[in-house]
Amino acid sequence: MGHVIAMAGKGGVGKTTLCGLLIQYLCESGRKPVLAVDADANSNLNGVLGVEIGPTLGELREEIERAGSDPKYRIPQGITKADWLEMRLGDALTETDDFDLLVMGRSQGQGCYCFVNGLVQVQIQKLQSHYPYIVVDNEAGMEHVSRGILPDMEKVLLVSDCSRRGIQAAGRIA
Ligand SMILES: Nc1ncnc2c1ncn2[C@@H]1O[C@H](COP(=O)(O)OP(=O)(O)OP(=O)(O)O)[C@@H](O)[C@H]1O
Ligand SMILES: [Mg+2]
Repeated sequence: MGHVIAMAGKGGVGKTTLCGLLIQYLCESGRKPVLAVDADANSNLNGVLGVEIGPTLGELREEIERAGSDPKYRIPQGITKADWLEMRLGDALTETDDFDLLVMGRSQGQGCYCFVNGLVQVQIQKLQSHYPYIVVDNEAGMEHVSRGILPDMEKVLLVSDCSRRGIQAAGRIA
């Protein structure tokens, strides 16, 4: 599995910007393909990277969780939820020559997503094995750390501006 590098720090200190620069650096120095993961519910890494995105993982989770009970969401007969997710994951992965981008997004629905989260986790684990580097952009704070879906972060870059609160937040996370 590839190296997992994640960003953390107070809001607005430059995590997403640094993420974009790091992805650019990795690609330009030949360490590609990079898997970029936007784990911020207010996703905007795609804007920094300059790409349009497909459905988010949050949307796929919802689609699969609701299939069967809500006619709006339908899984073709004879296909398991796991196989369907694997197919749909292809739509959720934005591919470029140098990097691919997966956006976690958010789930609008209420209730337990444990089962679907487990499916997503397995798919991400499969996907990860194809990339030497995985770069994860997080939202401010580390409370949810991607809702347990992402693998252990091997390296976390603590980003701060030169404000006291920024440095305190980095200290708390450390
Ligand atoms: N080194 C820097 N110097 C000056 N401005 C910067 C620097 N890094 C980022 N910015 C600017 O600061 C703003 C916030 O940056 P960014 O979105 O990368 O922060 P963030 O930590 O990801 O924010 P959030 O917590 O909301 O996700 C942007 O307008 C960005 O262009
Ligand atoms: Mg950000």
